[in-house]
Amino acid sequence: MSVYAHVTGWGMAVPDKILTNDAIASMVETSDEWIRTRTGVRERRIANDEESTASLAAKAGMKALVKAQLKPTDVDLIIVSTSSPEYLFPSTASIVQNKIGASNAAAFDLSAACTGFIYALDLAAQTLKTGANKSALVIGAETLSRIVNWTDRNTCILFGDGAGAFVLQASEEPGGMLSSYLRSDGSGAELLMVPGGGSRNPASLDTVKQGKHFIQMNGREVFRFATRVMSRATKEVIERANLGINDISLVIPHQANIRIIEAAAKGLKLPKERFVINIGRYGNTSTASIPIAVSEAFEDGRLQAGDHIVLVGFGAGLTWGAVALTWTGPLPEREEVDIRRYQLMGRIRGFVMRWIRRIEGVMHRWTRRY
Ligand code: UT7
Repeated sequence: MSVYAHVTGWGMAVPDKILTNDAIASMVETSDEWIRTRTGVRERRIANDEESTASLAAKAGMKALVKAQLKPTDVDLIIVSTSSPEYLFPSTASIVQNKIGASNAAAFDLSAACTGFIYALDLAAQTLKTGANKSALVIGAETLSRIVNWTDRNTCILFGDGAGAFVLQASEEPGGMLSSYLRSDGSGAELLMVPGGGSRNPASLDTVKQGKHFIQMNGREVFRFATRVMSRATKEVIERANLGINDISLVIPHQANIRIIEAAAKGLKLPKERFVINIGRYGNTSTASIPIAVSEAFEDGRLQAGDHIVLVGFGAGLTWGAVALTWTGPLPEREEVDIRRYQLMGRIRGFVMRWIRRIEGVMHRWTRRY
Protein backbone atom coordinates (compact mmCIF):
# COMPACT_ATOMS: atom_id res chain seq x y z
CA MET A 1 0.00 0.00 0.00
CA SER A 2 1.50 3.34 -1.06
CA VAL A 3 1.09 6.48 0.95
CA TYR A 4 0.94 9.90 -0.71
CA ALA A 5 1.58 13.36 0.75
CA HIS A 6 -1.14 15.86 -0.21
CA VAL A 7 -1.17 19.61 0.24
CA THR A 8 -4.52 20.11 1.98
CA GLY A 9 -4.03 23.57 3.50
CA TRP A 10 -2.21 26.78 2.67
CA GLY A 11 -2.07 30.29 4.03
CA MET A 12 -0.05 33.48 4.12
CA ALA A 13 0.57 36.39 6.45
CA VAL A 14 2.24 39.68 5.59
CA PRO A 15 2.63 42.82 7.70
CA ASP A 16 0.25 45.70 6.96
CA LYS A 17 3.02 48.27 6.67
CA ILE A 18 3.99 48.99 3.04
CA LEU A 19 7.36 50.43 2.08
CA THR A 20 7.35 51.89 -1.44
CA ASN A 21 10.31 52.36 -3.78
CA ASP A 22 9.91 56.12 -3.42
CA ALA A 23 10.29 55.78 0.35
CA ILE A 24 13.52 53.78 -0.17
CA ALA A 25 14.74 56.41 -2.64
CA SER A 26 14.58 58.89 0.24
CA MET A 27 16.93 56.64 2.26
CA VAL A 28 19.57 55.56 -0.32
CA GLU A 29 20.65 56.76 -3.75
CA THR A 30 18.20 54.93 -6.02
CA SER A 31 14.92 55.52 -7.81
CA ASP A 32 11.54 53.88 -8.23
CA GLU A 33 12.31 53.53 -11.94
CA TRP A 34 15.65 51.75 -11.35
CA ILE A 35 14.16 49.33 -8.81
CA ARG A 36 11.10 48.54 -10.95
CA THR A 37 12.99 47.94 -14.17
CA ARG A 38 15.98 46.06 -12.66
CA THR A 39 14.02 43.91 -10.18
CA GLY A 40 10.24 44.17 -10.73
CA VAL A 41 9.69 45.26 -7.11
CA ARG A 42 7.26 48.16 -6.56
CA GLU A 43 6.76 47.82 -2.81
CA ARG A 44 7.37 45.42 0.06
CA ARG A 45 5.90 44.72 3.53
CA ILE A 46 7.79 45.56 6.71
CA ALA A 47 7.10 44.05 10.14
CA ASN A 48 6.10 46.42 12.95
CA ASP A 49 7.68 46.27 16.41
CA GLU A 50 5.19 43.67 17.67
CA GLU A 51 5.69 41.39 14.68
CA SER A 52 8.48 38.84 14.32
CA THR A 53 9.28 35.76 12.28
CA ALA A 54 7.42 33.51 14.74
CA SER A 55 4.30 35.71 14.86
CA LEU A 56 4.02 35.84 11.06
CA ALA A 57 4.78 32.11 10.84
CA ALA A 58 2.09 31.26 13.40
CA LYS A 59 -0.47 33.43 11.58
CA ALA A 60 0.23 31.79 8.21
CA GLY A 61 0.31 28.34 9.84
CA MET A 62 -3.08 28.84 11.49
CA LYS A 63 -4.63 29.92 8.19
CA ALA A 64 -3.26 26.76 6.56
CA LEU A 65 -4.71 24.61 9.37
CA VAL A 66 -8.14 26.26 8.99
CA LYS A 67 -8.04 25.58 5.24
CA ALA A 68 -7.11 21.93 5.90
CA GLN A 69 -9.69 21.69 8.71
CA LEU A 70 -6.98 20.13 10.84
CA LYS A 71 -6.75 20.63 14.59
CA PRO A 72 -3.38 21.92 15.83
CA THR A 73 -3.28 18.94 18.22
CA ASP A 74 -3.38 16.61 15.19
CA VAL A 75 -0.19 18.07 13.68
CA ASP A 76 2.73 15.60 13.97
CA LEU A 77 5.53 17.77 12.65
CA ILE A 78 6.25 21.49 12.26
CA ILE A 79 9.14 22.65 10.11
CA VAL A 80 9.86 26.36 9.91
CA SER A 81 12.22 27.34 7.17
CA THR A 82 13.82 30.71 7.85
CA SER A 83 17.02 32.75 7.57
CA SER A 84 15.82 35.36 10.07
CA PRO A 85 14.86 33.14 13.02
CA GLU A 86 13.35 34.41 16.25
CA TYR A 87 16.59 33.53 18.09
CA LEU A 88 19.83 31.64 17.37
CA PHE A 89 18.08 28.99 19.44
CA PRO A 90 15.56 27.70 20.41
CA SER A 91 14.02 27.09 17.03
CA THR A 92 11.34 29.38 15.68
CA ALA A 93 9.33 26.20 15.03
CA SER A 94 9.16 25.48 18.77
CA ILE A 95 7.88 29.01 19.42
CA VAL A 96 5.26 28.51 16.70
CA GLN A 97 4.32 25.09 18.12
CA ASN A 98 3.50 26.75 21.44
CA LYS A 99 1.73 29.73 19.83
CA ILE A 100 -0.69 27.56 17.85
CA GLY A 101 -1.20 24.92 20.55
CA ALA A 102 0.22 22.02 18.49
CA SER A 103 1.03 20.08 21.64
CA ASN A 104 1.69 16.74 19.90
CA ALA A 105 4.10 18.01 17.26
CA ALA A 106 7.85 17.71 16.84
CA ALA A 107 9.26 21.04 15.74
CA PHE A 108 12.50 22.25 14.21
CA ASP A 109 13.91 24.92 11.91
CA LEU A 110 15.45 24.30 8.54
CA SER A 111 18.12 26.57 7.10
CA ALA A 112 18.41 26.51 3.31
CA ALA A 113 17.80 30.23 2.68
CA CYS A 114 15.38 31.01 -0.16
CA THR A 115 15.25 27.33 -1.19
CA GLY A 116 14.23 26.41 2.36
CA PHE A 117 10.53 25.97 1.69
CA ILE A 118 11.28 23.48 -1.11
CA TYR A 119 13.68 21.55 1.13
CA ALA A 120 11.19 21.55 4.03
CA LEU A 121 8.30 20.47 1.86
CA ASP A 122 10.23 17.54 0.44
CA LEU A 123 11.49 16.47 3.86
CA ALA A 124 8.02 16.64 5.41
CA ALA A 125 6.51 14.72 2.48
CA GLN A 126 9.11 11.96 2.87
CA THR A 127 8.18 11.50 6.54
CA LEU A 128 4.52 11.13 5.52
CA LYS A 129 5.33 8.67 2.75
CA THR A 130 7.30 6.42 5.15
CA GLY A 131 4.39 6.39 7.57
CA ALA A 132 6.39 8.18 10.30
CA ASN A 133 3.90 11.07 10.35
CA LYS A 134 0.31 11.60 9.28
CA SER A 135 0.41 15.37 8.98
CA ALA A 136 2.94 18.18 8.82
CA LEU A 137 2.83 21.95 8.92
CA VAL A 138 5.54 23.44 6.72
CA ILE A 139 6.14 27.17 7.08
CA GLY A 140 8.45 29.61 5.32
CA ALA A 141 8.78 32.83 7.31
CA GLU A 142 11.06 35.85 7.30
CA THR A 143 11.52 39.28 8.82
CA LEU A 144 14.46 40.17 6.59
CA SER A 145 13.93 43.86 7.33
CA ARG A 146 15.68 43.13 10.67
CA ILE A 147 18.89 41.95 8.98
CA VAL A 148 18.95 44.26 5.97
CA ASN A 149 21.42 47.12 5.90
CA TRP A 150 19.17 50.09 5.16
CA THR A 151 22.13 52.07 3.87
CA ASP A 152 23.14 49.43 1.27
CA ARG A 153 21.26 50.01 -1.97
CA ASN A 154 22.44 46.67 -3.37
CA THR A 155 20.27 44.77 -0.92
CA CYS A 156 17.73 47.00 0.82
CA ILE A 157 15.71 47.50 -2.35
CA LEU A 158 15.08 43.78 -2.74
CA PHE A 159 13.83 42.23 0.45
CA GLY A 160 10.53 42.15 2.35
CA ASP A 161 8.84 40.41 5.28
CA GLY A 162 6.16 37.72 5.24
CA ALA A 163 5.22 34.10 5.82
CA GLY A 164 3.49 31.29 3.97
CA ALA A 165 2.49 27.81 5.06
CA PHE A 166 1.32 24.44 3.74
CA VAL A 167 -0.39 21.59 5.56
CA LEU A 168 0.62 18.18 4.24
CA GLN A 169 -1.54 15.15 5.00
CA ALA A 170 -0.92 11.47 4.31
CA SER A 171 -3.47 9.62 2.22
CA GLU A 172 -3.75 6.43 0.17
CA GLU A 173 -5.33 8.52 -2.60
CA PRO A 174 -2.72 8.91 -5.39
CA GLY A 175 -1.50 12.46 -6.04
CA GLY A 176 0.08 15.23 -4.02
CA MET A 177 3.87 15.50 -3.94
CA LEU A 178 5.24 13.78 -7.07
CA SER A 179 8.96 14.44 -7.30
CA SER A 180 11.76 16.59 -5.95
CA TYR A 181 15.24 17.76 -6.83
CA LEU A 182 17.45 19.43 -4.20
CA ARG A 183 21.01 20.67 -4.61
CA SER A 184 23.66 22.71 -2.81
CA ASP A 185 27.06 24.17 -3.72
CA GLY A 186 28.80 25.57 -0.66
CA SER A 187 31.69 26.91 -2.76
CA GLY A 188 29.39 29.90 -3.34
CA ALA A 189 28.68 30.46 0.36
CA GLU A 190 30.24 33.93 0.43
CA LEU A 191 28.05 35.21 -2.42
CA LEU A 192 25.09 35.72 -0.10
CA MET A 193 25.47 35.63 3.65
CA VAL A 194 25.11 37.19 7.08
CA PRO A 195 28.71 36.74 8.24
CA GLY A 196 28.39 37.88 11.86
CA GLY A 197 26.73 36.46 14.96
CA GLY A 198 27.56 32.79 14.35
CA SER A 199 30.52 30.70 15.58
CA ARG A 200 32.89 31.99 12.84
CA ASN A 201 32.41 35.67 13.81
CA PRO A 202 30.67 35.77 17.20
CA ALA A 203 28.78 38.99 17.89
CA SER A 204 31.06 41.72 19.24
CA LEU A 205 31.32 45.49 19.04
CA ASP A 206 33.61 45.00 16.05
CA THR A 207 31.23 42.75 14.11
CA VAL A 208 28.45 45.26 14.67
CA LYS A 209 30.69 48.20 13.65
CA GLN A 210 31.63 46.34 10.46
CA GLY A 211 27.97 45.59 9.69
CA LYS A 212 28.59 41.84 9.72
CA HIS A 213 25.12 41.18 11.14
CA PHE A 214 23.56 42.44 7.88
CA ILE A 215 22.86 40.60 4.62
CA GLN A 216 25.82 40.85 2.25
CA MET A 217 25.33 39.89 -1.37
CA ASN A 218 27.18 39.72 -4.66
CA GLY A 219 24.03 40.42 -6.69
CA ARG A 220 25.54 39.92 -10.13
CA GLU A 221 26.95 36.47 -9.28
CA VAL A 222 23.76 35.33 -7.56
CA PHE A 223 21.83 36.52 -10.61
CA ARG A 224 24.05 34.50 -12.97
CA PHE A 225 23.74 31.39 -10.82
CA ALA A 226 19.94 31.77 -10.54
CA THR A 227 19.38 32.04 -14.28
CA ARG A 228 21.45 28.86 -14.75
CA VAL A 229 19.63 26.66 -12.23
CA MET A 230 15.95 27.67 -12.35
CA SER A 231 14.99 26.11 -15.67
CA ARG A 232 17.31 23.13 -15.13
CA ALA A 233 15.70 22.26 -11.76
CA THR A 234 12.21 22.69 -13.23
CA LYS A 235 12.98 20.35 -16.14
CA GLU A 236 14.52 17.80 -13.76
CA VAL A 237 11.45 17.49 -11.46
CA ILE A 238 9.08 17.32 -14.40
CA GLU A 239 11.11 14.43 -15.82
CA ARG A 240 11.29 12.71 -12.43
CA ALA A 241 7.48 12.95 -12.17
CA ASN A 242 7.17 11.30 -15.62
CA LEU A 243 5.46 14.39 -16.97
CA GLY A 244 6.12 16.66 -19.92
CA ILE A 245 6.46 20.44 -19.78
CA ASN A 246 3.00 20.81 -21.35
CA ASP A 247 1.44 18.89 -18.44
CA ILE A 248 2.47 21.71 -16.07
CA SER A 249 -0.27 24.29 -15.67
CA LEU A 250 1.70 26.64 -13.40
CA VAL A 251 5.29 27.22 -12.37
CA ILE A 252 5.53 29.02 -9.04
CA PRO A 253 9.08 30.33 -8.71
CA HIS A 254 10.96 32.01 -5.89
CA GLN A 255 10.29 35.75 -6.26
CA ALA A 256 13.80 37.24 -6.31
CA ASN A 257 13.90 39.30 -9.47
CA ILE A 258 11.43 39.52 -12.37
CA ARG A 259 14.35 39.22 -14.80
CA ILE A 260 15.36 35.87 -13.27
CA ILE A 261 11.79 34.59 -13.70
CA GLU A 262 11.73 35.85 -17.30
CA ALA A 263 15.02 34.05 -17.99
CA ALA A 264 13.57 30.83 -16.56
CA ALA A 265 10.46 31.19 -18.74
CA LYS A 266 12.69 31.65 -21.77
CA GLY A 267 14.83 28.64 -20.85
CA LEU A 268 11.73 26.49 -20.51
CA LYS A 269 10.11 27.97 -23.66
CA LEU A 270 7.00 28.74 -21.62
CA PRO A 271 4.92 31.93 -21.79
CA LYS A 272 5.26 34.23 -18.77
CA GLU A 273 1.53 33.70 -18.11
CA ARG A 274 2.34 30.15 -16.99
CA PHE A 275 4.31 31.64 -14.03
CA VAL A 276 2.97 33.15 -10.83
CA ILE A 277 4.59 36.55 -10.32
CA ASN A 278 3.84 38.77 -7.34
CA ILE A 279 7.30 40.22 -6.63
CA GLY A 280 5.92 43.69 -7.38
CA ARG A 281 3.92 43.76 -4.15
CA TYR A 282 6.16 41.91 -1.71
CA GLY A 283 9.74 42.05 -2.96
CA ASN A 284 11.92 39.05 -2.13
CA THR A 285 10.55 37.41 1.03
CA SER A 286 13.12 34.59 0.70
CA THR A 287 11.75 31.23 1.81
CA ALA A 288 8.24 32.70 2.26
CA SER A 289 7.90 33.82 -1.34
CA ILE A 290 6.78 30.48 -2.84
CA PRO A 291 3.99 29.64 -0.35
CA ILE A 292 2.80 33.28 -0.48
CA ALA A 293 2.64 33.06 -4.28
CA VAL A 294 0.78 29.72 -4.07
CA SER A 295 -1.78 31.18 -1.64
CA GLU A 296 -2.38 34.14 -3.95
CA ALA A 297 -2.59 31.91 -7.04
CA PHE A 298 -5.32 29.91 -5.31
CA GLU A 299 -7.25 33.04 -4.32
CA ASP A 300 -6.95 34.26 -7.92
CA GLY A 301 -8.55 31.01 -9.19
CA ARG A 302 -5.33 29.88 -10.92
CA LEU A 303 -5.13 26.52 -9.12
CA GLN A 304 -7.64 23.73 -9.69
CA ALA A 305 -7.73 20.24 -8.15
CA GLY A 306 -5.75 17.87 -10.37
CA ASP A 307 -3.43 20.55 -11.79
CA HIS A 308 0.24 19.60 -12.04
CA ILE A 309 2.45 22.42 -10.79
CA VAL A 310 6.14 23.04 -10.13
CA LEU A 311 7.58 25.05 -7.24
CA VAL A 312 11.18 26.10 -7.85
CA GLY A 313 13.66 28.15 -5.85
CA PHE A 314 17.31 29.10 -5.34
CA GLY A 315 19.25 31.03 -2.75
CA ALA A 316 22.12 31.31 -0.34
CA GLY A 317 24.22 28.26 0.34
CA LEU A 318 24.24 28.16 -2.57
CA THR A 319 21.10 26.04 -2.71
CA TRP A 320 18.49 25.34 -5.34
CA GLY A 321 15.68 22.89 -5.88
CA ALA A 322 12.20 22.17 -7.13
CA VAL A 323 9.19 19.97 -6.43
CA ALA A 324 6.44 18.83 -8.78
CA LEU A 325 3.03 18.13 -7.31
CA THR A 326 -0.56 17.53 -8.17
CA TRP A 327 -2.72 20.17 -6.53
CA THR A 328 -5.24 18.51 -4.22
CA GLY A 329 -7.34 21.57 -3.45
CA PRO A 330 -9.74 22.06 -0.57
CA LEU A 331 -11.01 18.90 1.12
CA PRO A 332 -14.79 18.33 1.29
CA GLU A 333 -16.31 20.52 4.05
CA ARG A 334 -15.95 19.04 7.50
CA GLU A 335 -16.57 20.51 10.91
CA GLU A 336 -14.85 23.89 11.08
CA VAL A 337 -11.80 23.92 13.33
CA ASP A 338 -11.89 26.68 15.93
CA ILE A 339 -8.19 27.53 15.83
CA ARG A 340 -8.51 30.31 18.42
CA ARG A 341 -9.65 27.75 20.99
CA TYR A 342 -6.46 25.71 20.42
CA GLN A 343 -4.39 28.86 20.50
CA LEU A 344 -5.93 29.80 23.85
CA MET A 345 -5.50 26.25 25.18
CA GLY A 346 -1.88 26.34 24.01
CA ARG A 347 -1.32 29.63 25.79
CA ILE A 348 -2.88 28.31 29.02
CA ARG A 349 -0.81 25.13 28.72
CA GLY A 350 2.37 27.18 28.20
CA PHE A 351 1.53 29.32 31.24
CA VAL A 352 0.78 26.28 33.45
CA MET A 353 3.94 24.47 32.28
CA ARG A 354 6.10 27.51 33.12
CA TRP A 355 4.58 27.65 36.63
CA ILE A 356 4.99 23.90 37.17
CA ARG A 357 8.68 24.21 36.22
CA ARG A 358 9.07 27.13 38.65
CA ILE A 359 7.36 25.28 41.53
CA GLU A 360 9.37 22.11 40.81
CA GLY A 361 12.56 24.20 40.94
CA VAL A 362 11.64 25.64 44.35
CA MET A 363 10.66 22.17 45.69
CA HIS A 364 13.90 20.70 44.39
CA ARG A 365 16.00 23.37 46.15
CA TRP A 366 13.94 23.01 49.31
CA THR A 367 14.27 19.19 49.50
CA ARG A 368 18.04 19.45 48.93
CA ARG A 369 18.35 21.91 51.79
CA TYR A 370 16.45 19.74 54.34
O1 UT7 B 1 16.84 35.16 -3.04
C1 UT7 B 1 18.06 35.30 -3.66
C2 UT7 B 1 18.52 36.65 -3.34
N1 UT7 B 1 19.23 37.43 -4.26
C3 UT7 B 1 19.01 37.58 -5.57
O2 UT7 B 1 18.24 36.93 -6.22
C4 UT7 B 1 19.80 38.67 -6.22
C5 UT7 B 1 20.03 38.47 -7.68
N2 UT7 B 1 20.60 39.65 -8.24
C6 UT7 B 1 19.85 40.70 -8.64
O3 UT7 B 1 18.64 40.67 -8.53
C7 UT7 B 1 20.55 41.86 -9.27
O4 UT7 B 1 21.92 41.58 -9.44
C8 UT7 B 1 20.41 43.20 -8.47
C9 UT7 B 1 18.98 43.69 -8.54
C10 UT7 B 1 20.84 43.01 -7.03
C11 UT7 B 1 21.29 44.27 -9.10
O5 UT7 B 1 20.92 44.44 -10.46
P1 UT7 B 1 22.02 44.40 -11.60
O6 UT7 B 1 21.34 44.66 -12.85
O7 UT7 B 1 22.77 43.10 -11.48
O8 UT7 B 1 22.91 45.62 -11.21
P2 UT7 B 1 24.49 45.65 -10.98
O9 UT7 B 1 24.85 45.16 -9.63
O10 UT7 B 1 25.18 45.02 -12.15
O11 UT7 B 1 24.73 47.22 -11.04
C12 UT7 B 1 24.49 47.97 -12.24
C13 UT7 B 1 24.64 49.44 -11.89
C14 UT7 B 1 25.89 49.73 -11.07
O12 UT7 B 1 26.38 51.00 -11.48
P3 UT7 B 1 27.63 51.08 -12.49
O13 UT7 B 1 28.75 50.37 -11.83
O14 UT7 B 1 27.16 50.41 -13.75
O15 UT7 B 1 27.83 52.55 -12.61
C15 UT7 B 1 25.38 49.83 -9.66
O16 UT7 B 1 26.18 50.67 -8.87
O17 UT7 B 1 23.53 49.84 -11.08
C16 UT7 B 1 24.01 50.43 -9.87
N3 UT7 B 1 23.07 50.09 -8.82
C17 UT7 B 1 22.02 50.86 -8.52
N4 UT7 B 1 21.57 52.02 -9.03
C18 UT7 B 1 20.44 52.52 -8.51
C19 UT7 B 1 23.10 49.04 -7.99
N5 UT7 B 1 22.05 49.08 -7.15
C20 UT7 B 1 21.36 50.20 -7.45
C21 UT7 B 1 20.20 50.79 -6.95
N6 UT7 B 1 19.77 51.94 -7.50
N7 UT7 B 1 19.52 50.24 -5.94
